[in-house]
Amino acid sequence: MKNCRICNYRATEIISFGKMPIANNFLEKQNFEKEYFFNLMALFCDFCKTFQLADQPKPELMFHENYAFFSSSSKKMSLHFEQMAHHYFNQFLLNKEQSFVVELGSNDGIMLQHFAQKNIKHLGIEPSDNVAQVARNKGINTITDFFQEELAIAIEKQYGKADIISAANVMCHISDLASVAKGVIHLLKKTGVFVFEEPYLGDMIQKTSYDQIYDEHVYIFSLLSVINIFKPYGLQVFHVEPQVTHGGSMRYYLGFENQHIINKSVSEQLLKEKKLGLDVLETFYAFKNACEKNKTEFIALLHTLKKQNKRIVGYAATSKSTTVLNYCNIGSDCIEYISDTTPIKQGKFSPGVHIPIKTYQNFKDDMPDYAILFAWNHAQEIFEKEEEFIKKGGKWITFVPEVKILNMI
Ligand code: TMP
Ligand code: ZN
Repeated sequence: MKNCRICNYRATEIISFGKMPIANNFLEKQNFEKEYFFNLMALFCDFCKTFQLADQPKPELMFHENYAFFSSSSKKMSLHFEQMAHHYFNQFLLNKEQSFVVELGSNDGIMLQHFAQKNIKHLGIEPSDNVAQVARNKGINTITDFFQEELAIAIEKQYGKADIISAANVMCHISDLASVAKGVIHLLKKTGVFVFEEPYLGDMIQKTSYDQIYDEHVYIFSLLSVINIFKPYGLQVFHVEPQVTHGGSMRYYLGFENQHIINKSVSEQLLKEKKLGLDVLETFYAFKNACEKNKTEFIALLHTLKKQNKRIVGYAATSKSTTVLNYCNIGSDCIEYISDTTPIKQGKFSPGVHIPIKTYQNFKDDMPDYAILFAWNHAQEIFEKEEEFIKKGGKWITFVPEVKILNMI
């Protein structure tokens, strides 16, 4: 029995995915022996309504100088962050010369670069030094650190208070949200906006996209849980906007109580969540059953294709794929390789099941029968890019929202 990370109430076990490696820990052969594993189990707290992991590896094991995730590797994401920056710029920076924009988990500067280009005072806080260095090389003011209260105090002393504190796909990584909240209330101007967007629980439940659950995602938020998490710190959600990124995300706008007009999007989204049952345990038990069914069908499909001597490869070695491959125990006897555009992953092996990671060119030159779309959240971008694969007779396999071979003609 585990207690909730947020409210300390007893949380309920929903599903165990078994022994799991670090999702982004692409490794070399000589490191197979000392690979780190933990038990990937999801819980739901019926009190504060937060969906969370029972155990999470130490942050240093996940976010370090060899972190393999670079935000700018996708064109769609670059565009998404450009639009986000412009939206903030127009909406919330009233006095542009005096403004200060902070980003938590600023990665390679994909969002902040748009403020840097406009000479707006900004600061990125990024725990993985290799990605932070890429940002610094682009002229984006970035420090390598984890955001918490003491750091917020130091930043405030040096730069003053912030108009915007932004985070994207970061808050769900941080177990100790109390420390972040304390930092935010210290650093944020009275009328400032704390805005973050994260994979959305409603999408995960509706699509059975259980691959959102991996070491880095210690929480999968709903609006209801976000309200409950930040209320004790005097922070109020005044607006929400659904996003298509990462397979379905939600952007939450928070501010100090009574400083912002509450948009009707908040009550509307709460109603949707009620209809989806994001506040009741039964919904999560049904999700568990759906995950198990998905696993059985995925294994069965791949076995059938292998029996027919079909060649199967993986497309994009996403962090999400680590959960699927390890939960379903699918290795290199089934999937020959996974092609990925990120140089740091190439030539290495996937976490846990050790499937070789090859270059994108390798996939282009090859003619596999089937490619598993691990980056299903980038489906549109990928299908547009890979018309040639279909023309040559290749077929896509997906597993979200259900296991199937895609009929592209
Ligand atoms: P994610 O954003 O869903 O986590 O996926 C990121 C990974 O997918 C990253 O390693 C790059 C890889 N990728 C490709 O290899 N080809 C593609 O076309 C896309 C969109 C991503
Ligand atoms: Zn709780």
